[in-house]
Amino acid sequence: MYNYRKVTDDLYWVGANDHRLALFENIHPLYHGVSYNAYVLLDEKSVLFDTADWSVSREFLANVKAVLNGRPLDYMVINHVEPDHAASIEEILLRWPEVKIITTPKAVTLLNQFGFDLDPNKVDEVKEGDSRCFGRHTIAFVYAPMVHWPEAMVSFDTTNGVLFSADAFGSFRALDGKLFADEFDFDREWIDDARRYYTNIVGKYGPQVVALLNKAASVVGLDNIKMLCPLHGPVWRKDLGYIIDKYTHWATYEPEEKGVMIVYASMYGSTENAAEVLAAKLAERGVVNTRLYDVSSTHVSYLISDLFKYSHMVLASVTYNLGIFPPMHNFLADMKALNLQKRTVALLENGSWAPRSGALMREALEELKHIDILDDGLSIASSLREQNISEMDALADAIAASVQK
Ligand code: FEO
Repeated sequence: MYNYRKVTDDLYWVGANDHRLALFENIHPLYHGVSYNAYVLLDEKSVLFDTADWSVSREFLANVKAVLNGRPLDYMVINHVEPDHAASIEEILLRWPEVKIITTPKAVTLLNQFGFDLDPNKVDEVKEGDSRCFGRHTIAFVYAPMVHWPEAMVSFDTTNGVLFSADAFGSFRALDGKLFADEFDFDREWIDDARRYYTNIVGKYGPQVVALLNKAASVVGLDNIKMLCPLHGPVWRKDLGYIIDKYTHWATYEPEEKGVMIVYASMYGSTENAAEVLAAKLAERGVVNTRLYDVSSTHVSYLISDLFKYSHMVLASVTYNLGIFPPMHNFLADMKALNLQKRTVALLENGSWAPRSGALMREALEELKHIDILDDGLSIASSLREQNISEMDALADAIAASVQK
């Protein structure tokens, strides 16, 4: 049965939710599902904006058919060709063979690489700033390279201010009947999923996101954007400033708030104990916005997400094979891959006979941009003992002073 929703008088959400997918991109765990959004505009011409993942193709096609209600499909705008949005293109072409595709030249190249056999006579390759009129609505196309793939563009409806924003402003989590961000308490229920989506999927491309935001401001005018229709997660029709502000922080790697995430790598509990003692000492100094994570049992996508949120981080690692404990090493590699910047870090190492993890973590952090490593660190031998307490107090003092300045 179809299950579409009206977005505006003549625009419809025709996407679908997937609750079965365990790993997004086969790497990021999903516990609340994900939505694949697509939209149909019924103007003098009918226009489909993007398609959906193969897993929800049946529901998506039923929605498109129901909204068209016997009308032909005249155009398909493809903003992004990653298969979670482009997989159903061929099904659209089979059912509506006369449809004309509007997309970027780079998208055509990638679609061919993915095995789509497109008729060049039915593809309209748009250039940056081109627009097309479909009756009452005129849509302008703005390139958005590397948000999140090189072919991406966003489409702006100059008639009513709807921005089809591709991966930008997307989020993990299924919609489950709701569609608009104002239909639930986004800041309580959704922001963590939105942050984890952005930071892990698009986080590396902060400069490109900033470029898109600047382009949107200069070409379209931020005040002229009345609605954000992303490819995942809810549609924004109110309080757009809230999510644009979050994006501005994430894209520029500025922390959202002052706070300390303590991530420990512990084999038998001694490094964990040291991390907990440090957290208690921070609380005694008034630093209570802290989060403590076991790097071995927390998926790295959650660590990355909180890392984009908080201003400070403590890395506490046992030495393993004369190196950094592998899950901590992986976390550091992900930080570099995602271009993490502008954080203050304290280090705590443990080693029973040749502690090395502190120096190696420092080396890894020094490869990142604008990372301030506090001079006060701590090296413990096997476990935290009385003789370490003065150094631990100095470390807690230094972190608290940095957070509270
Ligand atoms: Fe949800 Fe980059 O695709």
